[in-house]
Amino acid sequence: MYVHVPFCHALCYYCACNRVVTKDATVADRYIDAIELELDAIAQRLGKLPLTALHWGGGTPNSLTAQQVDRLFRAITSRFPIERGADISIEVDPRQASRDQIAHFGALGFNRLSAGVQDFNVPTQRAINRIQSLEQTEEVVEWAREFDFADVNIDIVYGLPYQTRDSFALTLEDVLSLAPDSIAAFAYAHVPWVNHAQHAYEAALPEPLEKFGMLVDAQEIFAEAGYQPVGIDHFAAPESSLARAFDQGTVQRTFMGYTPRRAATLIGVGASAISSSHDAYSQNVSEVPQYCGATHHGALAKRGCLLSEDDVARKSVIDALMTTGRIESNMISLPDGLPFGKYFAGSLIDLQTLADDGLLELSDNGVHLTPLGRLFARNVASCFDARVPGDSQRHASAV
Ligand SMILES: C[S@@+](CC[C@H](N)C(=O)[O-])C[C@H]1O[C@@H](n2cnc3c(N)ncnc32)[C@H](O)[C@@H]1O
Ligand code: SF4
Repeated sequence: MYVHVPFCHALCYYCACNRVVTKDATVADRYIDAIELELDAIAQRLGKLPLTALHWGGGTPNSLTAQQVDRLFRAITSRFPIERGADISIEVDPRQASRDQIAHFGALGFNRLSAGVQDFNVPTQRAINRIQSLEQTEEVVEWAREFDFADVNIDIVYGLPYQTRDSFALTLEDVLSLAPDSIAAFAYAHVPWVNHAQHAYEAALPEPLEKFGMLVDAQEIFAEAGYQPVGIDHFAAPESSLARAFDQGTVQRTFMGYTPRRAATLIGVGASAISSSHDAYSQNVSEVPQYCGATHHGALAKRGCLLSEDDVARKSVIDALMTTGRIESNMISLPDGLPFGKYFAGSLIDLQTLADDGLLELSDNGVHLTPLGRLFARNVASCFDARVPGDSQRHASAV
């Protein structure tokens, strides 16, 4: 289950998440009222479904007061029991964290923490309106260790204003000094139609090749430190649960990133939350007031779709590429039992061009990304995507 907590105390100018900037705690009170109604509606349909994993994301879940945290946690666990050994994770903004708060999350049972960093480079921090010191972040990681969180993740972003390969390399070293269990290094998504504040620093954005160089450097520096690349943008420390899951082939790619355990069904709760199952997707309305209103009459979904057999086949191929970097053709079941080469004949023509560029190896057994190709996994995956957005639909660039 994913629960979206959209509130933040201040706006980071680069942010592409669905968030509401407010310091008025009563807004979150009313939001939790609405979440309770949504949870009731889900429980009515699904019963006391046990949760194998619970994730609070945002926005900033640690912007809630201690009372709100208790209330939201109880609202969930009184309706849905959490399985023993479940991953219970929370996204934390270190600028708003305190030792008491992390102790509280630990006492409730949270066992995975993801801390947002983005970059320690001061000109970048000024441009994105997010001043956050290494020491402040270090404290949060220490508290998470003190209160027995099994896994600490750090988020960073490459391609932000005033970043250079050199400045970013220093941030990478700082991040490694925190010894996180995993690191998510996201490509900056420039989507000013989602967040107008991104226009403010457009002239200071790095050139595409410089941005790409930061990803190359991250791969190298993290590999030297023993981190295993997982999928397109995650790195797992040796012995971490994500690294073990990668070795065992159980890593799952979700809307929140990569998780060590697979679950067939994701229930998204809250404004803009996405739910998915084997053959369906649905997304809740995004705006908090509309979401709160919709919970009273049960019309929560702003969109959704059922997947055809063809969609399901393409989804499994794309998932395989984005998690393991390879497609084993005999592991993919295709409509009418058609062989891989025949079913994806059109895609394979495009893939041959990428193979000629050294991005992948094609054989009767399937597709295998080369180390270079891993950096372009999104572009390779789009060859299998029958619904790739057209030029008229706006989306962030793939690299
Ligand atoms: C909900 S925030 C994390 C928790 C908390 N709000 C914080 O900022 O520390 C989720 C993550 O999304 C990533 N993110 C946000 N906007 C992005 C953008 N425009 N491009 C790439 N990644 C972005 C950042 O790495 C951020 O840490
Ligand atoms: S990056 Fe995090 S803290 Fe900043 S505005 Fe976005 S969700 Fe809020």
